[in-house]
Amino acid sequence: MKEKILDLVEQFVDAQEKKFVPGETVVQYTGPTIDKDEYTAIIGTVLDGWFGLGAQASEFEAKVAQRLAKTYGVYVNSGSSANLIALETMKELYCIEDKNYKIITTAASFPTTVNPILQLGFEPIFVDVELGTYNLNDEQVMDAFNDEDVIGIVYAHPLGIPVANTKKYYELIKQKGGFLIEDCCDALDSTYNDGELVGKYSDAATLSFYAAHHITTGEGGMVAFSQRNAANVARSYRDWGRACFCAGKDVLSSTGACNRRFADWLGTGVVTDHRYVYDRIGYNVKPLELQASMGLAQLKKLDDLTQRRKDNYICLHGFLSQYEQYFILPTTPSGTDASWFSYPITIKDDAPFKRADIVEFLEENKIQTRNFFAGNLLDHPAYKQFDFELKYSLDNASKITNDTFMIGVWPGLNEEIYQYVFEVFEKFFNQRGL
Ligand SMILES: Cc1ncc(COP(=O)(O)O)c(C=O)c1O
Repeated sequence: MKEKILDLVEQFVDAQEKKFVPGETVVQYTGPTIDKDEYTAIIGTVLDGWFGLGAQASEFEAKVAQRLAKTYGVYVNSGSSANLIALETMKELYCIEDKNYKIITTAASFPTTVNPILQLGFEPIFVDVELGTYNLNDEQVMDAFNDEDVIGIVYAHPLGIPVANTKKYYELIKQKGGFLIEDCCDALDSTYNDGELVGKYSDAATLSFYAAHHITTGEGGMVAFSQRNAANVARSYRDWGRACFCAGKDVLSSTGACNRRFADWLGTGVVTDHRYVYDRIGYNVKPLELQASMGLAQLKKLDDLTQRRKDNYICLHGFLSQYEQYFILPTTPSGTDASWFSYPITIKDDAPFKRADIVEFLEENKIQTRNFFAGNLLDHPAYKQFDFELKYSLDNASKITNDTFMIGVWPGLNEEIYQYVFEVFEKFFNQRGL
């Protein structure tokens, strides 16, 4: 019966394919690239009747970790949770003195890259970014490293563009006895240092599997480590703060992975189940096994998806280069290669039109646009409550708030769709006599 159901699911999904109709079909800025493989994986797992994390999640954790040049993955319910759990773990492992620790980060960011810094009581040192590569302002970062209270550096590879100086920052923070967290949520498969996967030069690397990202499990995220100990700490924060770190088939074991599941864990002379002993003030940010099954189906396609993102960037970039008089177009720093999340365009100061003009025109013509996330976080209401001591100018970050927008390069787009997108751009410039 299960086979019959899955067969019907395949037929149903195949029948959903839609043709692109210029001017009618919305050109999405991003979206999931899934087919019958993901649907049958999810429904097959549901029919097996196993909902909590299990063998497929363990396999997904190991495979994704490898794709971040790490060894251990901890699957969580979002990229935001991954950033939170990553910083909780670093706090436990690195912040052993009672002092006011500071973390270098950038103001031009997705909110939940920075929010854990505030939620966990660190003081942020905000640095600006360069326009075009959206990499951190290196001069400001190097100056910030001189602050003796700095214990960490946390940032994202923006929209898939690798932060080229990551290895240098990693070595510097190690000299200070601190940590680097690489938010790779938008950058799965991007490379730096002439071909090394992002994720390599950090103590923790994170991913998001929300539908907008390179691979999706609907919602979901991963935090990956090179050290088993760090992964065990992260797993504990993810799973209510419990002491037991059994995963996969060990969960079913009557003795546990440690072979001491039932012992005097509380030191009271009473035998207690280790699965109900709590070491930390934890959360529950676990995803579901059916999401992991979807992730495994997505991973099989990742090489192809990455190539299509790169091809789409080349196609779009080739066309838009004729408008460089008006636009700052995205570029990658030398030695890096981006698996693009999206295509950011910043309107130059002296352009004879505003961001709102072109965004409105594109949207009217069914071409989706998005802001480059928050732009400068500090321009937003939530961050006004903090009395941040700002050491550096954040002018570029604020320019992004006001003048940057992004359009799509995701694998759901192709040359036929881009021909339509190009016509709309040409119309916009023609109408203005430009
Ligand atoms: C750089 C970055 N970090 C973190 C996140 C948060 O991921 P999630 O939506 O899975 O919580 C996102 C989301 O798009 C992101 O772009």
